[in-house]
Amino acid sequence: MKAQLFPAISGIRGFVAARRRAGQTIGLVPTMGALHRGHGSLIDMARRECGVVVVSIFVNPIQFNQASDYDRYPRNLDTDLRFCEERGADCVFAPSAEEMYPAPLDTHVDVDRLTEGLCGAHRPGHFRGVATVVAKLFLIILPDKAYFGEKDAQQLAVIERMVRDLNIPVEIVPAPTVREEDGLALSSRNKHLSGHERRIAAVLYQGLQSAAKAVAAGERDPAQVAGTARNVITSQPEVRVEYLEVVDPAEMRPVDTIEAPVRIAVAAWVGETRLIDNVLCKP
Ligand code: PAJ
Repeated sequence: MKAQLFPAISGIRGFVAARRRAGQTIGLVPTMGALHRGHGSLIDMARRECGVVVVSIFVNPIQFNQASDYDRYPRNLDTDLRFCEERGADCVFAPSAEEMYPAPLDTHVDVDRLTEGLCGAHRPGHFRGVATVVAKLFLIILPDKAYFGEKDAQQLAVIERMVRDLNIPVEIVPAPTVREEDGLALSSRNKHLSGHERRIAAVLYQGLQSAAKAVAAGERDPAQVAGTARNVITSQPEVRVEYLEVVDPAEMRPVDTIEAPVRIAVAAWVGETRLIDNVLCKP
């Protein structure tokens, strides 16, 4: 089936409003394009659960804290459109930056506390940009359900908190991380890795796995657990760890001791490419 492309806010609003009047539930999968099987799994989930599946594709300038990262972010709308069609999406909302930001914004959404650590500490303004654009997408499309990957666990927590705090009537559905065969989490940024970097990048997941094993075996000290992962990851000298932390999954803050499920989260540079990953583990 052909997925309809809407570059304009008025167009997607009209399309969704008609479907809502017809009694269909609306599912939204927000993305920045360069779609891969990770995004595909979110579209599949939405397809199973909703009458209408909307995929948004928008490389959101206000969530990039480095202009070079924004400029080199991979873009290919034609390929993405075909991908959405094959996965059974009904339509794609792909606005220009001018359509989303016709004038500089005076209004933003800030989610406090949750954004103090991890990626929030290393990418100033990033989550403000994410929360603001996702709030705009929710208000444009008014979805019943919206799908987010656990790969970006802090982002997922931020969106869940925003929806709770602002009473936004949308159900947030989390989706498990899709990985390559060697464990590397799928990411649009993997395209930037050289052949050698790609081969060693799986060390992030191997590190997280060994830390999870330590927790399962009874280790309760977060510093020990983080150290286990760090040793594995830094066995590759080309990989530079930005953060590696054991956090409470809801609050995204470091824990003193591991008594309940925790998320072990890592950000690391492989050459010039920043990758993130995490695993949830239970003591
Ligand atoms: P993007 O990086 O394109 O990711 C879109 C969605 O796909 C996010 O919910 C992300 O968690 C999910 N995703 C990415 N890789 C995945 C994987 N390997 N397995 C499962 N899900 C995966 O995240 C964003 O875009 C933006 O910040 C956005 C929310 C669209 C706001 O601009």
